[in-house]
Amino acid sequence: MNKPLNEYSGWIWMNGKFLEWKKAKIHLLSHTLHYGSGVFEGARAYGGRIFKKTQHHQRLHDSAAMLGFKIPYSIGKLNKAAEDLLERNKLENAYLRPIAWYGAEELNVASNNNSVNVAIAAWEWKSYFKPETTGLKLMWSDWIRPAPTMAPVHAKANGLYLIGTLSKNKAEHQGYDDALMLDYRGYIAECTSSNIFMVKNHVLYTPIADCFLNGITRQTIIELAHSHNIPCIEKYIMPSDILTADELFVTGSAIEVKPIIKIGETQFNIGRITKHMMREYLKLVKAKELEPPNE
Ligand SMILES: Cc1ncc(COP(=O)(O)O)c(C=O)c1O
Repeated sequence: MNKPLNEYSGWIWMNGKFLEWKKAKIHLLSHTLHYGSGVFEGARAYGGRIFKKTQHHQRLHDSAAMLGFKIPYSIGKLNKAAEDLLERNKLENAYLRPIAWYGAEELNVASNNNSVNVAIAAWEWKSYFKPETTGLKLMWSDWIRPAPTMAPVHAKANGLYLIGTLSKNKAEHQGYDDALMLDYRGYIAECTSSNIFMVKNHVLYTPIADCFLNGITRQTIIELAHSHNIPCIEKYIMPSDILTADELFVTGSAIEVKPIIKIGETQFNIGRITKHMMREYLKLVKAKELEPPNE
C-alpha cells in the first residue's frame, strides 16, 4: 500500500501562504464539502516546468465564472504560486491540483455569503494507472453525461464528478480500469477523467465537446495531429462506431495519451497512430521552450 496522500510532507499554497502539508485543512462546514460547489484543475510538471500552466489557471477562472464566482488571484499570481510551490517542494515531475472552494461562513444552499478560498497542492507523480497497465480496459458506464441545460457541463466543477466516481468505482470493482460514458443523446462522451479518440482508416475522430470537458490534452492532440498531417475530425460518434474502430486512445493531463485495449467484451490493438501520438505528446510536454517565463 502506498503512503496515504494526507501523510505526505512538504508545502501547500493556500490563500496566498505556504502551509505545511498536514496543516492545510478546511472547516467541516465548508459549503463545497456539502454541496459540491467548487472548481479545480489537474496539471502536470515535467522537469520542473508546468505544461500549459496558463491554460489550466485560465480554465480555473473560467470554471469559477460558470459557477458564478471570481477567483481572487490573477492567472499570473497562480502561475507564480504554482512554480514557487514546485521549487519549495523540490519537485520536478509532479501533479498539481489547484482548487477553489467556498468557506464555512454560512450553511445554506446559496453560497452568496461564503468566502472563496484557493489552494494549490503538488506532489511527485508516477502514473495514473498501475505502471504495468499498457492499455486500458473500459466498461460502459451506467451514468450519462447531462445536457448543458442540466448542469454546468463545461466547468471542471467538483459536483460533476459524482457520476465519474460512481462509474469508476464500479469499473474497478469489475476488473476494468475506467468507464466510458455516453451523453444524454446516446453519443460517445468521455471517460471519467479523460477524452477519447478513435482511428478509422488512418483518420482520427473525437466527439464534439458540447456537453463535457474540452480537455487541454484533447486540444493539444488535435493540434499535434494537424501539424503531423493526420486528419482529425470532431463529430458525434455512436457506440457502434467506436466498437469498429481500428485504434482507440484517451487523453488527459494526468493520463497523458493511453491506448484502449478493451471496451466491454470488444478488444482493440494498440496501433501505429496511437503510438505516434503517445510519442509526440511526450516529446511536446518535455520540450523546454513551452511558455514564456512569468513576468
Ligand atoms: C471529466 C474529464 N474529462 C476530460 C479530462 C481531460 O482534460 P485535460 O486534458 O484538460 O486534463 C479530464 C481531466 O481533467 C476530466 O476530468
